[in-house]
Amino acid sequence: ELRPSVASYDFLVVGSGIAGLSYALKVAEYGSVAVVTKEQADEGCTAYAQGGISAVLDVSDSVENHVHDTLRAGAYLNSVEAVEAVCREGPGAVLELVEMGANFTKGPKGDLHLTREGGHSHRRVVHAADLTGKEVERALLAAAHRHPNISILEHHLAVDLVCDRVAGAKHCLGLDVLDTHSYQMQRLVAPVTMLASGGAGQVYPNTTNPHVTTGDGIAMAYRAKAVMADMEFIQFHPTGFFQGARAQGQTFLISEAVRGEGGLLYNLDGRRFMSKYDDRLELAPRDVVARSIHDQMMTRGESHVMLDISHCPRDLVTSHFPNILARCASHGVDITREPIPVVPTQHYMCGGIQTGLLGDTGIAGLFACGEVACTGLHGANRLASNSLLEGLVFASRAVKPSVAHQEYALKHAGLALHHAALSADFTGASSATRLPEMVTKDIQQKRQQMTSLMWNAAGIVRHSKEMRSALHQLRDMYIDVRAMRQEFGIAPELQELLNLVTVGELIMASAFSRQESRGLHYNADFPQLAEHGASTVITDSFRRRHG
Ligand code: SIN
Repeated sequence: ELRPSVASYDFLVVGSGIAGLSYALKVAEYGSVAVVTKEQADEGCTAYAQGGISAVLDVSDSVENHVHDTLRAGAYLNSVEAVEAVCREGPGAVLELVEMGANFTKGPKGDLHLTREGGHSHRRVVHAADLTGKEVERALLAAAHRHPNISILEHHLAVDLVCDRVAGAKHCLGLDVLDTHSYQMQRLVAPVTMLASGGAGQVYPNTTNPHVTTGDGIAMAYRAKAVMADMEFIQFHPTGFFQGARAQGQTFLISEAVRGEGGLLYNLDGRRFMSKYDDRLELAPRDVVARSIHDQMMTRGESHVMLDISHCPRDLVTSHFPNILARCASHGVDITREPIPVVPTQHYMCGGIQTGLLGDTGIAGLFACGEVACTGLHGANRLASNSLLEGLVFASRAVKPSVAHQEYALKHAGLALHHAALSADFTGASSATRLPEMVTKDIQQKRQQMTSLMWNAAGIVRHSKEMRSALHQLRDMYIDVRAMRQEFGIAPELQELLNLVTVGELIMASAFSRQESRGLHYNADFPQLAEHGASTVITDSFRRRHG
């Protein structure tokens, strides 16, 4: 066996989306940074974000309005402090992006054009036509590539955090990663690690998220015993492009901005239906619109509904939605003339690693931001276009404590860091296993089993009995997969399955334990809102209680 390789940095960042890169660019002023990313750096969710970034940039709007809309959408389960911080610091963070070179759509007077989305009382969404995330990712990646202190390690899968006790407190000292091209393991040692690895859309059969979203950061943090919160609040975007009842995997998103600019929803009889459910009609928050569509589909026995923007001026459609226009055309739908078939699709995870107001996780030296984190901003439902914003603001908030921790660790945790480097033996193996075909097939089957279990029991409308049974099945599956991991060692497909099943179990356990309906969590057996809402927090005692 070769000795596994070890490298040291000042800061590690897992994930190369808006949260990870904007953090990396800031801490790079204080030391060396490695950004670990599972595939190409621009293959995360950020690049797929269409709608935009919400921020108060119009004189007729106010931070109080944005706070109010965010709390209302979140069914008041949000942390008011987190909401206030993000709404207040958002405009500055967006303008920093502009300074960095992000090219957003301009209005007629040359200022930033603001679009409208569900749940927002004002036009507030900064965007780059309908490819906002792609533009943001381009600008951030270009800056990161230029920075001499930043190394971007593409095709590196983060496997597990390296933690140890220093002066009585648990510290994160680095990360074991797998180079998925060479199949070599490597230990990265650093006093500070930022998890910005995004969500876990692949836990569901249909998602707007790309295939890399297997919840690796959440599962790793859970294994390291970080606290998880609000995992039951899974956002289903009301309008994923409907590609047939049997289509699986990543679904193309039809941005909420289409409804913001006048798009209307119809059932397959050609009737509008939103007035039956909410007086904000097509611009009600996502949980309401997704449940209304789901209700139409269930009661009418139909596989999808229609979203129509063809009555709007052709110019508006072609200039605001060039990407949606082209993608729909490639499926034979001309959106300037005909309605688009749509269906609710998994889109975002509001819960995650519980953090404080500075992205701190409770494990010294470990920070989290972006979709992987639960900062308290979203509460029980995320307001449209608040996620890129959250990534930006919290990445910035985490810089000062990260730099302070790095200085502390250099003084007090030198020995522990040294030991972390020396003890890298990856349970004896320095390279990963290439799995036999039979095992790969078994993994694919298990993934499919898991995703349909999640959709059936923890989808848009949930039932206690189904959740209980699904939870048992997920636990059995976890035990099975863990045994496979012990037998075959580290392999990317197996590691991702282990992470997916872990996250699935966390979602199901949290959903089962919430005996009310609030925001994105709707349990038909408990349709009412409880008088006092509280976060679902998964700590060590929860683990013991739930086996
Ligand atoms: C969209 O364009 O509808 C997505 C925006 C978001 O998820 O915030």
